[in-house]
Amino acid sequence: MQQVHMGLIGAGTVGGGVWNALQRNGALMASRLGIQLEVAAVAVRHPDRARAARIPARRITTDWKSVVADPRVQVVVELMGGTTTAREAVIAALRLGKPVVTANKALVSAHGDELFAEAAAHGTNLYYEASVAGGIPIIKVLRESLVGNRVTRIAGIVNGTCNYILTRMQQEGAAFGDVLADAQRLGYAEAEPSLDVDGHDAAHKTGILASLAHGFWVTPAQVHTEGIRNLSPLDIQSAARLGYTIKLLGIVKCLGPADTTVRKASRRVRDTAPACAIQASVYPALVPRTHVLASVNHAYNAVAVRGDVVGDTLFYGRGAGAEATASAVLSDLADAVLDLRHGSHRRVPPFVAHEVNGRVVPMDEVISRYYVRLAVLDRPGVFARIATLLARAGIGISSIIQPEGHAGDTVPVILMIHDAPNAAMRRVLRQIAALPVVRAEPMMIRVEDLD
Ligand code: HSE
Repeated sequence: MQQVHMGLIGAGTVGGGVWNALQRNGALMASRLGIQLEVAAVAVRHPDRARAARIPARRITTDWKSVVADPRVQVVVELMGGTTTAREAVIAALRLGKPVVTANKALVSAHGDELFAEAAAHGTNLYYEASVAGGIPIIKVLRESLVGNRVTRIAGIVNGTCNYILTRMQQEGAAFGDVLADAQRLGYAEAEPSLDVDGHDAAHKTGILASLAHGFWVTPAQVHTEGIRNLSPLDIQSAARLGYTIKLLGIVKCLGPADTTVRKASRRVRDTAPACAIQASVYPALVPRTHVLASVNHAYNAVAVRGDVVGDTLFYGRGAGAEATASAVLSDLADAVLDLRHGSHRRVPPFVAHEVNGRVVPMDEVISRYYVRLAVLDRPGVFARIATLLARAGIGISSIIQPEGHAGDTVPVILMIHDAPNAAMRRVLRQIAALPVVRAEPMMIRVEDLD
């Protein structure tokens, strides 16, 4: 049987998971592919961790360059994380014409353009299924399975840490800080949780999904990003009373055609699909309790994709962890070795630009509904003053609740607000915050009806 030799760079959680999955299912894969996958060398920063994963010492090195350059190594698997050395290693491998498999969302989202260009220039391919939503095969879905669709909307729960925290806040009425501390103790959340809880990890993944769906590269900087730190148990409870569950969503929506003057200016437009002006963002949102995403709990991920031909689809599974991520890496490895055997690396290029004049709409212009929580003095006329400011801004209120049972002078008020542009909403909230009767920074959460 034909053998293909791989070089692994990184043997932490994911690298160890890939090694172990290959021990378990390598023979199964060989019988399916007709190709045996062999690990020739493993580069690690800390040899002890590789030994803990039971990788034989003779395959371990601390020199990633020797793994990339090793003439036996035909496929390089980058699992070290980070964007500096990882970028160097991936580019070095691609320049040698070696296909690369990576799980590195930060790297792909920030440097995708450059890496795909390197792969094309050197007649090889880059595979990145594991970079978004771990074990859920969402990259293949967007690149291949839904190729006959215009993707009109993606709504994804793509950060397991945040979903775990929100689920426990919802089920136990607990505060964000307490659940985060617990999650850190249990090893679900990193000691430095900002990448997850401030939405950056989800933004990397959302940028990749937006790019694949719309065919122009969307960098993390273009993804409007808000995290879950400021959510209070009262927000979770109030949302529940109104029939909603709060989820951190990665959202990609086609809002309409991109600017036609830009389209006409390009000669390439003749050969490309009409481009969309898209929303690409990450924020906590009220999701109707009846929507399937509201039932995705704990560390699970789910991505709902709407295509104009297929309609609504949903992809659910474990978005992180050694085994789920290893499953995606193995899928990429299978593609890489089959492409090597058949010389078919251009069959599905890593990224197909198709909406060359697409653009990301600034969040200020995006229109949505809102939940707003205010802390106000419990005095006559307070509602009237708030309502006057909203009315002057042309923004409508769909409901007002002042939950009973709050002692003291300051009471919470929950407003549900009709469709309004984000900029107008932020402006009026600044005015409301400046009212002497408003005692704390207003909390604003968008509502995603997902209908
Ligand atoms: N930290 C991520 C999560 C997994 O919590 O989903 C890796 O992207």
